Amino acid sequence: MPDAAIDEIAPPAADPTTDREQNIEQDLTAEKTVGEAFCENAKMSMRDVKVFYGEKQAIYDVDIDIGQNQVISMIGPSGCGKSTFLRSLNRMNDTVESCRVAGEILLDGENIYSSKMDVVELRARVGMVFQKPNPFPKSIYDNVAYGPRLHGMVNHRSEMDDLVESSLRRAGLWNEVKDRLDQPGTGLSGGQQQRLCIARTIAISPEVILMDEPCSALDPIATAKIEELIGELAENYTIVIVTHSMQQAARVSHRTAYFHLGHLVEVNDTQKVFTAPEHELTEAYITGRFG
Ligand SMILES: Nc1ncnc2c1ncn2[C@@H]1O[C@H](COP(=O)(O)OP(=O)(O)O)[C@@H](O)[C@H]1O
Ligand SMILES: [Mg+2]
Repeated sequence: MPDAAIDEIAPPAADPTTDREQNIEQDLTAEKTVGEAFCENAKMSMRDVKVFYGEKQAIYDVDIDIGQNQVISMIGPSGCGKSTFLRSLNRMNDTVESCRVAGEILLDGENIYSSKMDVVELRARVGMVFQKPNPFPKSIYDNVAYGPRLHGMVNHRSEMDDLVESSLRRAGLWNEVKDRLDQPGTGLSGGQQQRLCIARTIAISPEVILMDEPCSALDPIATAKIEELIGELAENYTIVIVTHSMQQAARVSHRTAYFHLGHLVEVNDTQKVFTAPEHELTEAYITGRFG
């Protein structure tokens, strides 16, 4: 028999990981999220959220609240849907043509997918910081002034100066850049660029800040600075951070959500998730058995 025919008949080599993951997926569809997914002071509430790319479902039936002035981490193995879920919170997925979001996502009780929602305004209220720092090819000053100008937030140059300064201060960058505001943002170090992107986000007074692995391109010192900053920002903003670093989640967040294959498996106070996880999958992940 020619080799090709044998290939067709022979069953694929057993792949225990795949088998297990498939079984888990079936199990998870019937399961409810464990822990405490809801809170009293919800800034955002998600109910029965599903996200599809064409026919392929990436997020299954997620119910979760995000509390006001809370830092919540989203963790889980690569490809489990963290970025997809995060991007659905400010309709960044709208830019992906095949992507469809179903269910309810509320910001202060208002459905962000309603036809009445102005998406530009929504993205000002729910700002986003990306994995790779992406300053505009403009001066440091103009990077921060760009959003306020676009949204017509200030009328005078002096007001803009104040807003640029206060945003850079809150992003912990002012002292490092105050003497070179007219120089390109792209000339800063990676960590400084990421803080510039945070300053740019803050400048338009967001209520929620979404961060997708904001430190993964940074060295440990720059990472420590951003983590410190997240702690300070939580006094005024609600922060959702995707991270592949469990140490980072443990350090910066009040609550932690564990995703697996598109399912929200567990969410609870961060300390609980890392010291006494309720679900075997969460436990397997945090003890490093996969991911
Ligand atoms: N633009 C896209 N088009 C099609 N599938 C996508 C797209 N973005 C992500 N996916 C798929 O959705 C699933 C979740 O991906 P993602 O949200 O990027 O996971 P994570 O951020 O946890 O690594 C993966 O199976 C991924 O291949
Ligand atoms: Mg991702």
